[in-house]
Amino acid sequence: MKNDYTNLGELPSKQDLINLGSDKTCLAVEGLKAGYGKMEIIHNLDLYAGQGQSLCLIGPNGAGKSTVLHSIFGFTDIYAGTISVAARNITHMSSAQKLKTAGVAYIMQENSVFPNMTVEENLLMGAYLIENNSTVRTEIERIFSKYDRLNQRRYQPAKVLSGGERRLLEISRALVMKPTVLLVDEPSIGLEPRYIDMVFEILQDLKENEGKTIILVEQNATKGLQFADIGYVMSSGVIVMADHTRDLLKNKTVGKLFLGG
Ligand SMILES: Nc1ncnc2c1ncn2[C@@H]1O[C@H](COP(=O)(O)OP(=O)(O)OP(=O)(O)O)[C@@H](O)[C@H]1O
Ligand SMILES: [Mg+2]
Repeated sequence: MKNDYTNLGELPSKQDLINLGSDKTCLAVEGLKAGYGKMEIIHNLDLYAGQGQSLCLIGPNGAGKSTVLHSIFGFTDIYAGTISVAARNITHMSSAQKLKTAGVAYIMQENSVFPNMTVEENLLMGAYLIENNSTVRTEIERIFSKYDRLNQRRYQPAKVLSGGERRLLEISRALVMKPTVLLVDEPSIGLEPRYIDMVFEILQDLKENEGKTIILVEQNATKGLQFADIGYVMSSGVIVMADHTRDLLKNKTVGKLFLGG
């Protein structure tokens, strides 16, 4: 499978990636080299997303997609390069600082609800960095009024939620911090088709109506690319292809490798 990526043509240049972004750059990753311990996984990666734009990373297992999100959120060792949000350098901030002061939130690939806490308590966990109690209450009430599914289960332990509702809770928990950038790893993983659609509708709403910049990793490449504005194809820690998603969806090689076409 790996050899198939060698015929994707020339690698996109930094300028190509800048052009895919918008005038209002929100998130910029430049020359990033990152990994775990001594193992460099991400090699000289650039990534640009404008305010309110969404970008989907696709690629084979082990390509380093999650590691890109981990790096933006501060979970990896960074050897070179910079990460900035709204022109502010956040490369070496802790994850807590990123969440609290830089407006970056991360929704993990793995199930992360606290099963024995109620839905409301789970949301409160998302607010542990906010000192002002009334800000937290306002935001949590806003979430409950927006998502009735959660409101109805407010005082029940999160373990009673369906898979789709858990994802909704995980997304909502990230929203408590009112992030401008949402990093979302595999939102559709393990979900039935009807819940997959629900999750993408929620993300669509956050993008369109709340202007969030969303960086998404998605194994279901068709769904991910249909949702996002920009698509990057990643292989072995490198971006091997990048384009507007409408063009990637029409691309024969991408279709053959990732879209089951
Ligand atoms: N915490 C970690 N410590 C050490 N190595 C890791 C860690 N997490 C991931 N890796 C390694 O980094 C490489 C890239 O993994 P990553 O999880 O970023 O891939 P991915 O593209 O998200 O794959 P998948 O589609 O399977 O989720 C893999 O070789 C993996 O073994
Ligand atoms: Mg992953």
